[in-house]
Amino acid sequence: MASPSVFTACESAGNSSEEINWDEIGFGIIPTDSMYLMKCPTEEDTFSDGSLVPYGNLELTPSAGILNYGQGVFEGLKANRTEDGRILLFRPEENGRRMKTGADRMCMPSPSVEQFVNAVKQTVLANKRWVPPLGKGSLYIRPLLMGTGSVLGLTPAPEYTLLVYATPVKTYHKGPLNLVIKDKLYRAISGSGGTGRIKSVVNYSPAYKALKEARAEGFSDILYLDAATGKFIEELSSCNVFLVKGNAISTPTAEGNILPGITRKSIIEIAIDLGYEVMERAISVEELMEADEVFCTGTAVGVNPVLSITYNNTRAEYKAGAEAVSQKLCQTLVGIQTGQVEDARAWTLQIE
Ligand code: COI
Repeated sequence: MASPSVFTACESAGNSSEEINWDEIGFGIIPTDSMYLMKCPTEEDTFSDGSLVPYGNLELTPSAGILNYGQGVFEGLKANRTEDGRILLFRPEENGRRMKTGADRMCMPSPSVEQFVNAVKQTVLANKRWVPPLGKGSLYIRPLLMGTGSVLGLTPAPEYTLLVYATPVKTYHKGPLNLVIKDKLYRAISGSGGTGRIKSVVNYSPAYKALKEARAEGFSDILYLDAATGKFIEELSSCNVFLVKGNAISTPTAEGNILPGITRKSIIEIAIDLGYEVMERAISVEELMEADEVFCTGTAVGVNPVLSITYNNTRAEYKAGAEAVSQKLCQTLVGIQTGQVEDARAWTLQIE
């Protein structure tokens, strides 16, 4: 259910986007009009007969693979409104490719990249009145691939469903971040057996307990260290991390447990264009504590500066604000995403 403050009049599905107070939306579910469903029986290994249905609850067998064993991967991407009212998706085929990699790791068939992009486009078109005006947020699209067939033993489900739903949002965090690093607390199991580098649904809720504690201590999120040595930074519960020192920008290499973020990849290319030296490499906590700037990137998060990091009772503070490198990178990225900066690499896809 939508929060009453978001609507000036009615709530829930069937409510009118004209009634939305765009200034009040945050990062939460506002029910929209339609969602997209497409199925695949494993014997066939191909998805077909996708269609839009009214946004609402799903009917699932109690023994569905997703419910019992978390056999599922998800994606997140955004549609933005331009000044003249057009709607742009940002690099949707990258999400389609990443879903395929994740599905493969989780022993699931996946839609083709074309089917994925088509499903996303149809979902946005059917919900276009929910794309906020320029400067008021984005339509966040959540494609979810799940084992919906019945299983009891440990085995891949006999049927899969791609569900795509969407909701209007602002960025995930309410402002710049104050992070904490804790020893012996890891985001995902390291080594080739881990699932940190895919968007498996089971990667996220294990962080809730530690996140709850960190938030109660006044921190915004946790920056995790690698489980193998406990010396190198990996990522936050919800996004990738970068540091700036002089003209050099560094981020942990997207391997092992580190998610190959699409915002991460785009920021690397934008930073190189703007003349920074960009390095993907192992970064120790000591080096992080000495950085000039630290910032995070993700679809939900956008590009968000970090004000401080606390580790072993030491607090490092970083530069943020109008003159910060992160601000320049953020402006260029958002400019491309909203049609205000030239899209030289054809990253955006206009929805007609
Ligand atoms: C995204 O950035 O789209 C994500 O999936 C992060 C999620 C934890 C909100």
